[in-house]
Amino acid sequence: MGAQLIDGKGLSQTIRRGVAERARALSAAGRQPGLAVILVGDDPASAVYVRNKVQACAENGLHSVLETYPASLSQAELLARVAALNADPRIHGLLVQMPLPRHIDPQAVIAAIDPRKDVDGFSVHSAGQLMSGLPGLRPATPYGCMKLIESTGTAIAGKHAVVIGRSNTVGKPMALLLLQANATVTVCHSATPDLAAHTRQADIVVAAVGRRNTLTADMVKPGAVVIDVGMNRNDLGKLCGDVDFDGVRQVAGWITPVPGGVGPMTITMLLVNTLEAAERTAG
Ligand code: GUN
Repeated sequence: MGAQLIDGKGLSQTIRRGVAERARALSAAGRQPGLAVILVGDDPASAVYVRNKVQACAENGLHSVLETYPASLSQAELLARVAALNADPRIHGLLVQMPLPRHIDPQAVIAAIDPRKDVDGFSVHSAGQLMSGLPGLRPATPYGCMKLIESTGTAIAGKHAVVIGRSNTVGKPMALLLLQANATVTVCHSATPDLAAHTRQADIVVAAVGRRNTLTADMVKPGAVVIDVGMNRNDLGKLCGDVDFDGVRQVAGWITPVPGGVGPMTITMLLVNTLEAAERTAG
């Protein structure tokens, strides 16, 4: 016995095929969905992420614009670019890659993005819509985690879900999405005294703390669905998540691998958000 793997790569490909089909329909009507990405500075990891986003657009029939600026760009200049892309009718999704240089206030920049184009779902407006149970753009990583959980066929309603981590980009929106799906939700974090006491009760665990071996086999209820958002390196430099995969897979019912679980879903859900923003504009 062992957990079944949740294939994020396969699910991602399936969803992307649907995105490409819907993008084709919009393009045929002269309304090709468009994503604009702004990168400021020369953070190497950000450069890779941004390249992957632009490439994913190209592969799935979305128009994309990449604007790169030196770290010396002023906040006012960046805000002017955001305003220009807000006004550009070919652009339906707009994101500014984080982190930004220290002289730029990320909240001011995120707040300047037209809420209809906030495909990262990072703005206070988008967070408020989610909090209030209203329609809006959902942050891509937790949105992808919901799709991964749904792909197992597990009914979320009535289940006890434990989210480990309370970041604005993953933990908090994850908890709200699970709540909206009628799960009973517990949010654990670095000040939770007995994490295992909570996770042992969980039918669904989402680990999003950024520390390897946060969830070990003794902390998991047999049969649970385990979603691993972590992206860490082990002592050998190999990519690993927050979950002790080899141990937990002996106990869980379903588990996402790292890599090949949550990772591929994030850009896919960014494409979905851009497509949905374009469809909304098209009416
Ligand atoms: N930096 C790391 N991940 C992300 C993301 O999803 N969106 C943006 N804008 N910046 C990031």
